[in-house]
Amino acid sequence: MTEIRRDTLEQQTFFDAVGGEETFRRLVHRFYQGVSEDPLLRPMYPEEDLGPAEERLALFLMQYWGGPRTYGELRGHPRLRMRHAPFRVDRAAHDAWLRHMRTAVDELGLEERYERQLWDYMLHAANFMINAEDEQ
Ligand code: HEM
Repeated sequence: MTEIRRDTLEQQTFFDAVGGEETFRRLVHRFYQGVSEDPLLRPMYPEEDLGPAEERLALFLMQYWGGPRTYGELRGHPRLRMRHAPFRVDRAAHDAWLRHMRTAVDELGLEERYERQLWDYMLHAANFMINAEDEQ
């Protein structure tokens, strides 16, 4: 039987386990490719260039999953619901956001347990961000 050291299992962060910064950069880059072509989401992003938004989401996710804490150094406490208040996040926006994230997560080709953990988080976080009823 292969011996697996306890500390390698218990001390590795999710961030490290899935491949560190490179993985999160790939995830968020693919996600924003989808957003850039989305007729509902694209107009919501205030800046012409999606690069800075891509950077913020990548840094946030890396920090959340146990990587470098650069997001906090640059942006302070995430307070994500508050930061989304200026944007109309209804069910349609939520669905569109998750659709692009689904593609991006799938393309990472993670081990199933990591994929599931990451996806569960995205589902919960996206639901938490809803701040408006659907337009009739
Ligand atoms: C549910 C649909 C969502 C929509 C329509 C949406 C839309 C937006 C928009 C328009 C921005 C401003 C772009 C910028 O300047 O950064 C933003 C920022 C951001 N979003 Fe979302 N978002 C959604 C869900 C989420 C979720 C689920 C997360 C986290 C897992 C997230 C994390 C962030 C972060 C970290 C920022 C930058 C915050 C900062 O200013 O530091 N968003 N989002």
